[in-house]
Amino acid sequence: MDSKRKKRSVTASTILIVFVTCCLYTLYILKFENPRSSSPVSLLPTINTLKKIEHVTDLNQEYVFVGDIHGNYDEFIELIDDKIGGLRENTTMILLGDFIHKGPDSDKVVSYILNHKDQVKCVLGNHEILVMMAYLNPDYSQWVRHPKLMIPLTFSTETDFIPQDISKISGAHARLAHELGFSKLSQLAEHCSMVIELDLDVTDDKLFGVHAGMLPGDFIKSNQIPSVSSLSNMKFVNKKHWSKTSREKENKNYVRWFTMWDKYGDSFSNAKVFYGHDASMGLNLRKQTKGLDTACVKDNLLSSMRVKYNGKKEQYEYTLIQVECS
Ligand SMILES: *[C@@H]1O[C@H](CO)[C@@H](O)[C@H](O)[C@H]1NC(C)=O
Repeated sequence: MDSKRKKRSVTASTILIVFVTCCLYTLYILKFENPRSSSPVSLLPTINTLKKIEHVTDLNQEYVFVGDIHGNYDEFIELIDDKIGGLRENTTMILLGDFIHKGPDSDKVVSYILNHKDQVKCVLGNHEILVMMAYLNPDYSQWVRHPKLMIPLTFSTETDFIPQDISKISGAHARLAHELGFSKLSQLAEHCSMVIELDLDVTDDKLFGVHAGMLPGDFIKSNQIPSVSSLSNMKFVNKKHWSKTSREKENKNYVRWFTMWDKYGDSFSNAKVFYGHDASMGLNLRKQTKGLDTACVKDNLLSSMRVKYNGKKEQYEYTLIQVECS
């Protein structure tokens, strides 16, 4: 009887000790190891989800949407210098995200953007976002299992944003974060957005540039604001619940997002979406959606589309312009 009681009290005190240790450890993690409270890095500026180029009435302006460059600076310059006749005063380029990472010269691509801010606009892709997260969380590998404890990015429509694919953050992202540093990353956060809307008043066209994609009505219907996660990373959408988007085909209700434009785009017939992100589909030019990621980083092609007014036809013309990558 005595020994049983002794055993019981030993078990109880063991449980108590384990419990207290756990509590203290959790407190320690939250208070001292949480990068939000201890990290010395500077926060990046709030990123605009949407930037607009409104009321375009100047028919001499040309717009060039450019698919995923992935640090292939030489091909990017070849596109500008040899294929579109140089960056002139009437040229506006819109880079569709993933312009850094994987290829050889991400730093040069970023410098070019920042040195030509008036003419080179940009949207952020999943890789720019991961590099920014790697910058804010230099000890990211510790936090991949507890992403909620990481320092988040802030967008105009979403605070505390932590990407769903945070486990894909890699040493290469971290090295690039270090190479670019605070000054360039914060300038990119200020200069780029998640979406660029181009309103061509003369023909009433609304052109959207986005990395991953957008659904019919997004930003056009005032109550339909897509998530940063879908703008930067979706490939599929649940056709019954458009707020559910994903990178993988989760189940039979999930379809490629652009097929929703094929079906329902007529209600927004003046809208077009230019995007990158999906090299597996390659060049994907449909009535209202223009997929321009043609895997330059895998020695394929860098693709772009020029939008230019044709006075005789009184409409804008869309011309595919490509550079071979090596
Ligand atoms: C842009 O300017 C160049 C000359 O600088 C001209 O050749 C070109 O036609 C202009 N683009 C448009 C759409 O007018």
